Amino acid sequence: MRSRVVIANWKMHGSSAFLAEMATGLNAEQDLGATDQVVICPPSVYVQSLRQLLKDTYGVGAQNVNDAAEGAYTGEISASMLVDSGCDWVLVGHSERRQYYAESNDWIAKKAGSALSAGINSVLCIGETLAERQQGKAEQVVSSQLNSMLQLEGIEKRADQLFIAYEPVWAIGTGETASPEQAQEMHGFIRSLLPGELKNVAILYGGSVKPENAAELFAQDDIDGGLIGGASLVLEQFVDICRAMPVTGSTT
Ligand code: PGA
Repeated sequence: MRSRVVIANWKMHGSSAFLAEMATGLNAEQDLGATDQVVICPPSVYVQSLRQLLKDTYGVGAQNVNDAAEGAYTGEISASMLVDSGCDWVLVGHSERRQYYAESNDWIAKKAGSALSAGINSVLCIGETLAERQQGKAEQVVSSQLNSMLQLEGIEKRADQLFIAYEPVWAIGTGETASPEQAQEMHGFIRSLLPGELKNVAILYGGSVKPENAAELFAQDDIDGGLIGGASLVLEQFVDICRAMPVTGSTT
């Protein structure tokens, strides 16, 4: 059985007051449906406080990590520092980081490698732009983004710690979602590229997931959950998305 995961990506949003409000709301929530693991990724500066505020049943993640263990890298944060702050999840290779901070596939794989070695669950974000899709290059782009990760030594032994998020760039924050069929097609393709033990890693969909479209997306054979941006900032919407997970499905 593949795990079913819903992750909130708060991006650069939030404050101490917002943290406290969301933690109170999430802690009071009794029904998160069939979602196995709910994870909140606030800006790094809030990871430690959120870990202290949230019940243990929630995971807390960072939105980025550096591949180096320590050193003169102003502004950067290492995997061991994340662990030390109570963080057990991290996003790597989000399209906004690829676009604004020139993160390459190889660097992203190194970041994931250092997070995985530190025992952090790592979510590799991949996805094509609109131009790439229109040029018929979506599968090529996604497979090269995935390939750098698959080159990591010993990656097959990390199947229980590795997660993939397929986020078509044209669907992020645009209100335009991939149709369930489009998303399933790409998730099936991604799974077909995964070797051996990695075949059963959870593949999450991201890109304008809302309470209205979550159930249909999560019902697809190869969609094991979601990475949620905008809707994760509104407690009721985020909780409704978690509850949209079908009780059966996502079986191996
Ligand atoms: P969105 O963001 O849900 O606001 O489209 C998703 C993401 O970027 O992870």
